[in-house]
Amino acid sequence: MSTFSAPKGTYDLIPPDSEAFLAVREALAAPARRAGYGYIETPTFESTALFSRGVGESTDIVSKEMYTFTTRGGASLSLRPEGTASVLRAALERNLHKQGLPVKLWYSGSYYRYERPQAGRYRHFSQVGAEALGAEDPALDAELITMAVDAFTGLGLSQVRLLLNSLGCRACRPVYRAALQEFLRSVDLSFLEPDDEADIRRRIEINPLRVLDDKRKAVQERLAGAPLMADHLCEECKAYHEQVRSLLTDAGVRYEDDPKLVRGLDYYTRTTFEFVHDGLGAQSAVGGGGRYDGLSEMIGGPALPSVGYAIGVDRTVLALAAEGVELTLPARTRVYAVPLGEEARRTLFGLVTELRRAGVAADMAYGGKGLKGAMKSADRSGAAFAVVAGERDLAEGVAQLKDLTSGEQTPVALTELVTTIKEKLS
Ligand code: HAM
Repeated sequence: MSTFSAPKGTYDLIPPDSEAFLAVREALAAPARRAGYGYIETPTFESTALFSRGVGESTDIVSKEMYTFTTRGGASLSLRPEGTASVLRAALERNLHKQGLPVKLWYSGSYYRYERPQAGRYRHFSQVGAEALGAEDPALDAELITMAVDAFTGLGLSQVRLLLNSLGCRACRPVYRAALQEFLRSVDLSFLEPDDEADIRRRIEINPLRVLDDKRKAVQERLAGAPLMADHLCEECKAYHEQVRSLLTDAGVRYEDDPKLVRGLDYYTRTTFEFVHDGLGAQSAVGGGGRYDGLSEMIGGPALPSVGYAIGVDRTVLALAAEGVELTLPARTRVYAVPLGEEARRTLFGLVTELRRAGVAADMAYGGKGLKGAMKSADRSGAAFAVVAGERDLAEGVAQLKDLTSGEQTPVALTELVTTIKEKLS
């Protein structure tokens, strides 16, 4: 133990869990690679204004959860709390939207939110996401949702539920927003603590849709008769949503209509969705996304209707554990060399190097370990074979090849070792 520990709300990924984490990340990215999405990497920090304008000043993410700092030069930067605004910023800056639409991109990386840490909710977490920029086509919404579904099923998860909603467009949402606001202003909230009531009253004025998402049961009971977006969608939004639903049905994707689904970011329009896993407790969302037709203009770009999603890698790993799914990971080490003495170390170091260059994962005992300790390390490494050599073996031009499963041991000529091992492993 050193004087330091990982900052609150963060954790270190160490072997073997880190291997599983990497495998999950790769599996989550696979559907995007198969659907023509190109990989994009953007900086982990951006101008603070990109997020306050893009994600929304009134969201918890921007108002309470950003890691914001001033540089020595006086610029305000923030660690990215999400990926969509950055991806769109980069695409516009690099003129990707002028080279054919839609621009399809996927990403994977670290995100930061100053949240109250609890199981499944961290201050540093990982997402794998995909965005399709510059096309208004229900097939694109359906493509992305299907990709996320396939990512979860590809990992062997069977209990992820898809919740689907439409948040309307700039024509029908304001009408709905006003109707909802009127309803909410008349709701009796006096049962709440004064501070909590003031908080929700403030929210009714700046972001009434978020009130629908309140997790408190008593609040939800008061919202029973609230007007719903689904009943206020304009004809275009209604038709668009019907097409998304029917394309999903055709693709064999099961979803639940959730008219109260409101996401924690302000840029959404029309299609919105969330993936939840009931085995995760309070932090049940393993992924989410939707359409954001106005975001490009909000950050100073041209009209570029877009849609995307992000999946939480940390929570996907927790979901796998909750369902008891074990991933089969490739063995880290296939061959473990055990040198007994100076001369053997030189010879086996050469062998291990040769094996690695031939594509065989190999390791060896270092630090002059004795036979017993070295064999223990060989077992722990998960290797299929150990190569043991002492002075007498070398004098005879051989090493002992030990099958660590059967325990069987045979002398093999040093010159034949690499070929013999490769044959046995194949
Ligand atoms: P989000 O719903 O804020 O959406 O985050 C997506 C996923 O990231 C969540 O469902 C969750 O699994 C994971 N996540 C979020 N916060 C945390 C946390 N504090 N700890 C652990 N995991 C977390 C977005 O970020 C949007 N950019 C998604 C999107 C892409 N919309 C359109 N395109």
